[in-house]
Amino acid sequence: MADNAPIGVFDSGVGGLSVLREIRARLPQESLLYLADSGHVPYGEKSPEFIRERCRSIAAFLLGQGAKALVLACNTATAAGVSELRELYPDIPLVGMEPAVKPAAQATRSGVVGVLATTGTLKSAKFAALLDRFASNVRVITQPCPGLVECVEAGELDSEATRSLLQTFVQPLIEQGCDTLILGCTHYPFLKPLLAELLPTTITLVDTGEAVARHLEAILSTRDRLGDKPAATRFWSSGDPRRLADVLPVLWGETGMVDEYRG
Ligand code: DGL
Repeated sequence: MADNAPIGVFDSGVGGLSVLREIRARLPQESLLYLADSGHVPYGEKSPEFIRERCRSIAAFLLGQGAKALVLACNTATAAGVSELRELYPDIPLVGMEPAVKPAAQATRSGVVGVLATTGTLKSAKFAALLDRFASNVRVITQPCPGLVECVEAGELDSEATRSLLQTFVQPLIEQGCDTLILGCTHYPFLKPLLAELLPTTITLVDTGEAVARHLEAILSTRDRLGDKPAATRFWSSGDPRRLADVLPVLWGETGMVDEYRG
């Protein structure tokens, strides 16, 4: 039996749209609800307690809108909040995301892997466990990127300010021989064109959006809950809904109506 209830997806802001695009490409018959918590972005410099509170409030809202599954399209929110949401909603299919350490450790030839992520993700116990589990045979250089999420939120994907900030983050990784670079924050895939200009062609980028979409499909399929109708997408923002509407054509590829989320 098909289940045409929507899938709820959220992030601290517009970054999760990079994941939403992968979900739409893989599951074109699923209706989607997207909530950008732009009124509280960035999560990367906030406390785990604060982020957990945001996760609880947003998850309750999306489920109240009829979501049959939830995707935490945010590495930082997953690190802080996914375990608690799993306890609160044991029957809801729930997909989180984490930096792609395992595939990167398998892919590197130089033995040096770089990770660009938020301070919150890199400081988390979940990330430490990921390194212990999958990266014991490679050197992993972590690089927090304060300020970068704000550039993407502002739609500045190739401004001089964004370029020079990104340059300061990737330069040490290039100098230390990294050949595989993990984009450990969902805002960063939007900077791929700029990264292509700043990085030598010998460095491969790894991100997790597509794997998340595949995992979501597998979970829904196992539970016999895939949709089979032409899909619709609804958007909310806890910041200024017009700002999200303005960046949708670039980051999502279509225009969309955005409602205000006051939770
Ligand atoms: N997009 C988020 C992530 O994947 C968080 C960015 C932030 O708000 O700091 O980690």
